Amino acid sequence: MNAAASFQSLQGEGVAATGEASAVHAAAAATPLIRLRGLDKVFDTDEVQTHALSAVSLEIARGDFVAITGPSGCGKSTLLSILGLLDAPSGGEYWLNGRDVAGLGRAARAQIRNDEIGFIFQSFNLIADLSVEENVELPLTYRNAIGRDERRRRVASALERVGMAHRARHYPGQLSGGQQQRVAVARALVGEPAILLADEPTGNLDSHNGEAVMGLLEDLHRGGSTLCMVSHDPSFAARAGRVVRMLDGRIHSDNAEAV
Ligand SMILES: Nc1ncnc2c1ncn2[C@@H]1O[C@H](COP(=O)(O)OP(=O)(O)O)[C@@H](O)[C@H]1O
Ligand SMILES: [Mg+2]
Repeated sequence: MNAAASFQSLQGEGVAATGEASAVHAAAAATPLIRLRGLDKVFDTDEVQTHALSAVSLEIARGDFVAITGPSGCGKSTLLSILGLLDAPSGGEYWLNGRDVAGLGRAARAQIRNDEIGFIFQSFNLIADLSVEENVELPLTYRNAIGRDERRRRVASALERVGMAHRARHYPGQLSGGQQQRVAVARALVGEPAILLADEPTGNLDSHNGEAVMGLLEDLHRGGSTLCMVSHDPSFAARAGRVVRMLDGRIHSDNAEAV
């Protein structure tokens, strides 16, 4: 799938948002933003069954910065896809903002995803034919309630937050990897999601640009954003307040008690 197609499918093929999300916000503020209980994910492929996640229980509070780490194949991306409502669990409970989302179908997941989730990918997934500001505006175009002036205001503000306002009219191909990822962070932020999910956000970057993107995520956390970042790099993972280590589809350790 190319970047445009994958981003569009991420946004649920343009499913229009309704006022349904306000019910989510009305849920008690005291409940954790994310609550998983006994979550399982089994992939059935030909003759093989892969238990990608087994009995995963996890809570993420508003304002947390959580790193999920562990060896390749341990289930990190699968967990992030389920957290981001890109995929559904095979079993167990998932409560997002006080709402039971484990059993939702594809369309309902897409709608909540567009309102509540900001995604940052290892490969940036910017659309080459769109300018920086058009890329950042894209998630907002799926929301009928936001008019053009408000969209422009939000895009400018998101680009300001990531230090890329001066490149608004440029195209992704004219930017370094680190700059592209900062634009991707702006795109994830622009809809004011409840949580930012990042899968190996520094994985395609050299150490200098990786450091800059990591610093940006830390700034967002200090500004009150809730983040969940997958990283197999222990030094980046350690910079989140909380480190959840996975092994063979299970949570192996979680330093939540220590912070
Ligand atoms: N769509 C899929 N179909 C079948 N198996 C999958 C699929 N996605 C992931 N897996 C398997 O699930 C396990 C966990 O994968 P993944 O979550 O991508 O791990 P990580 O991100 O930690 O490297 C691996 O064994 C992987 O091969
Ligand atoms: Mg992965």
